[in-house]
Amino acid sequence: MALTFSRLTGLTAALAATLLAAAAFASPGTDTSGLPPLGPEWRPSNPYRGNEAVAAIGKEIFTENCVRCHGADATGRSSIGANLQLVGRFCRRISDETLVPRCLADADDYFRRSVQGGKIRLGLTYMPPWKDVFSQEEIWALRTYVELLSITARDANRQ
Ligand code: HEC
Repeated sequence: MALTFSRLTGLTAALAATLLAAAAFASPGTDTSGLPPLGPEWRPSNPYRGNEAVAAIGKEIFTENCVRCHGADATGRSSIGANLQLVGRFCRRISDETLVPRCLADADDYFRRSVQGGKIRLGLTYMPPWKDVFSQEEIWALRTYVELLSITARDANRQ
């Protein structure tokens, strides 16, 4: 078991390094000037939640920068990335309605910090940091798009 685990870890690391090399040259080419300005202070949670015009811009940023690791459906199934549809999904199942916005705010904050800081553990870069790449508006646009994807997928599963 230990051998299998370490071989898998090595493979993941090699794959991440290859994908990272590609990521280093990616530059955001999406026109994001249509995003409503938010100013320099970071909002504690996503101020665009549910805004479909913002989500459309978020989709373009996502397609250009995130799909190669997280897949077009953001589940990560087709590549090495995590399932982003799960970030905050359980919040909508909480029955105490006063807790739902707090849960979603916490999920937003986790999303934002993950994107800004990337995912680097024990010297391995699984995801590069994006803090010098995306503005506050762009990160919340990404969050808006991924959250809507998650809600759409959940609703489709219910039918
Ligand atoms: C080079 C591949 C790669 C790219 C490009 C990439 N990611 Fe990731 N991302 C990953 C991996 C791998 C993980 C899981 C890392 C881990 O094990 O914690 C991850 C984790 C995350 C997480 C945390 C998810 C969780 O459940 O913990 C978020 C949020 C995220 N990525 C968002 C994005 C967004 C938004 C973009 C585009 C701007 C992006 N990622 C681009 C590889 C990538």
